[in-house]
Amino acid sequence: MADRPRALFAMNPEHLPRLFPEPLLRRLTAVLDIDPGAVAEHFDEPRAAAALAETEVIVSSWGAPRIDAAAIEAAPLLHTVLHAAGSVKWHITPAAWERGLAVSSSAEANAVPVAEYTLASILLAGKGIFHLREDFKAKRSFTLGLVHPQVGNFGRVIGIIGASKIGRRVIELLRPFDLDILLADPFVDEAEAAALGTRLVGLDELVATADIVSVHAPDLRETAGLIDAGRLAAMKDGAVLVNTARGNLVDTDALTAELQGGRLSAVIDVTTPEPLPSESPLFDLPNVFLTPHVAGSQGNELSRMGLYMVEEAERLASGEPLAHRVDPAILWRQA
Ligand SMILES: NC(=O)c1ccc[n+]([C@@H]2O[C@H](COP(=O)([O-])OP(=O)(O)OC[C@H]3O[C@@H](n4cnc5c(N)ncnc54)[C@H](O)[C@@H]3O)[C@@H](O)[C@H]2O)c1
Repeated sequence: MADRPRALFAMNPEHLPRLFPEPLLRRLTAVLDIDPGAVAEHFDEPRAAAALAETEVIVSSWGAPRIDAAAIEAAPLLHTVLHAAGSVKWHITPAAWERGLAVSSSAEANAVPVAEYTLASILLAGKGIFHLREDFKAKRSFTLGLVHPQVGNFGRVIGIIGASKIGRRVIELLRPFDLDILLADPFVDEAEAAALGTRLVGLDELVATADIVSVHAPDLRETAGLIDAGRLAAMKDGAVLVNTARGNLVDTDALTAELQGGRLSAVIDVTTPEPLPSESPLFDLPNVFLTPHVAGSQGNELSRMGLYMVEEAERLASGEPLAHRVDPAILWRQA
C-alpha cells in the first residue's frame, strides 16, 4: 500500500476515538497513510512540523490548529483537508484557499442530529407538551378528558428561517406530518421553496404567521439580531421560538423580556453569551426549554462525522470526486 497518500490527524486528540472507532480507523488507514498516535494540536510542534512537510491530506476536527500561511508553507504537498466536523471557517484560512486546497466537511453529518432535535422540539411544542408538563408538575393532578384547546399538530404553521443544510433536513423530516411549512431565505426563490414543499415568505410575514418559528440561518454580519424585539413582538400569542442555530441571531434581552411576559415560549439550544450568566431568568422560566448547545453531534453521533470523512478518503483513493467539498465562493453565506 505504498501509494496511500501521507496524511496527518489535526484536532483535539480526545475526539479521535469517538470520531474514528476501530472499524472506521481500519477503513481510513486502508486508504491513507496516517498514524492515529500522532495527532497534531499545534503545527509548530517539532513532530507536527516534521510530519507536515510530508503531508498530502489533513484529517481535521474540533480543536484543529489553523491552516494558516505558515502551515501552508510548511506543507508543500498538502492538497486536501477532510474535516470530520461542521464549519471550516475557523481553521481554513485565506492562505489555504489561495493554495487551492480541496476541503471537505462533515457539516451534512452534523446537520442530522440538529434536525432530529428540531423535529422533536417542533412536534412536542406543537402538542403543547412543554407547558402541559409544567402545569402537571405544579398541580400534581389533572382532569382526564379535559380538552386543551391550544394543543395539537394538525394544520400547525411552522416557519423555517433558512434553507440551510439543517433547515432543508428539518423541512424534509416535517414532510410526513399535517403541517403547513413557511420558509424565509433570501437565497431561495419561490420555485425552489415550492419544490421543498414550503411556501416562500418574507421574514416579517413568517414571524407574524407561524405557530412555531425555527431558526436555521448561519451566524453572519447580516443575520446578527435577525430576531429582534420587533419581530418577537410580531409573533402570535402562544407562539414558540426554536433556536438551534446561534445565539447571535436572536436579541437575547428582548427574548428574555418577551418570555418573562409569558406570551411566547422557546426551545433554546444556543445563546449569546454562551453559557448564559447563572442568574439568567431563562434557566428557570416554565415556558423555556433550555439546553447546553447539544443539538449538534454528541456521543455516538461523532462517528457519523468520522464516517463521512472516511467515505471521502475512500473516494479520494479511487479517484472519485469528493461528495462534501466546501465551495469557497459561497462560504460567506454559510455557517
Ligand atoms: N446547535 C448546534 O449544535 C449546531 C450544530 C451545527 C450547526 N448549528 C447552526 O445551525 C445553523 C445552520 O447550519 P448549516 O450548516 O445548516 O448552515 P449552512 O451553511 O448550510 O447555511 C447556509 C444557508 O443559510 C441560508 N441563509 C443565509 N443567510 C440567510 C438569511 N439572512 N436568512 C435566511 N437564510 C439564510 C442560505 O440558504 C445559505 O445557503 C448555523 O447557525 C449553525 O451555526 C448549530
